[in-house]
Amino acid sequence: LQSEALARILAATDAPALEALRIEYLGKQGSISALMKTLGKMSPEERQAQAPVIQALRTTVADALAARKETLEIEELERRLASETLDLTLPAPEAPRGSVHPVSQVMDELAEIFADLGFSVATGPEIEDDWHNFTALNMAETHPARAMHDTFYFPQEGADEALDQAPNTGANTAANNSRMLLRTHTSPVQIRSMMKQGAPIRIIAPGRVYRSDSDATHTPMFHQVEGLVIDKDIHLGHLKWTLETFLKAFFERDDIVLRLRPSYFPFTEPSVEVDVGWQDVKGPNGSRRVLGGDGDAPGHGWMELLGSGMVNRKVITFAGLDPDEWQGFAFGVGVDRLAMLKYGMDDLRAFFDGDQRWLDHYGFSA
Ligand code: PHE
Repeated sequence: LQSEALARILAATDAPALEALRIEYLGKQGSISALMKTLGKMSPEERQAQAPVIQALRTTVADALAARKETLEIEELERRLASETLDLTLPAPEAPRGSVHPVSQVMDELAEIFADLGFSVATGPEIEDDWHNFTALNMAETHPARAMHDTFYFPQEGADEALDQAPNTGANTAANNSRMLLRTHTSPVQIRSMMKQGAPIRIIAPGRVYRSDSDATHTPMFHQVEGLVIDKDIHLGHLKWTLETFLKAFFERDDIVLRLRPSYFPFTEPSVEVDVGWQDVKGPNGSRRVLGGDGDAPGHGWMELLGSGMVNRKVITFAGLDPDEWQGFAFGVGVDRLAMLKYGMDDLRAFFDGDQRWLDHYGFSA
């Protein structure tokens, strides 16, 4: 019985077969269990002789079952390891690739165009203080132009109380000047650049700005690019030529025509609003409005594009330079708007929704 059992156990090739053998020999109705039961009917002498033999048989078979079980488990593990090896030489599956956001793309284009004109890129903090954002730009606390900026202010104990007690009297200048806010335009970078590097200066300053405003053409966060030139004998002609050259390069058209209209900004004097001519061009799917051409021609028109002017003498003084020695011009333009005009997008809010389909459609490959 023993040699037969051991041979069958060794021949078992999987766990169910092994379990069947266990039941056949050691189960309640098993043949070895049956042998154990015969002990009860034996005479004491016979039992003394047979018991160790049957016990040994049972132990041997149980040990053989356990050993075979372990062997089978190890074999199974080795089989799995062999079949599940990673082939590191397989090509990786293609992963989705991101793209450059149109705003980043336009800022890169601007930096390149202006680099050719000798401008470098300057930056300033988005969390700005009141002095750089307003006061140094010739907007004192009481200046009405501040109201047009829909400023996000940070709560600040001292400043808020001083303002409550003496609103718009200018009697709380120190507290007010250090008040922190989210910059409402990139113009504070004008001040920071003049104070940091002195003159002459030729910079553009692209970046995020914030105003409490939201509809199809306004988002609470948007992008501007500031331009600033400070040098000797700078005049409006330089401003006009620079803007014309920049817009022709940006829109890739030689027929860009500008119209300068008198305007007002506290930090420029004189101030000019710059319009660009457009025309309707007939295509297979109806007519399309494109920039280019004289806006006064029939079927043409003007579109307001940006604010600019000669830097106010007071601003040059605030920034620590002598306005009799240094003059210059500045301009500020919406980057998002430039992107919309160049690439034909119609809802500004889509810029900041993070919708993968929009990004796939309008994004640029890196
Ligand atoms: N800072 C102005 C704005 O936000 C734009 C501007 C910049 C105008 C520089 C004149 C000169 O609207």
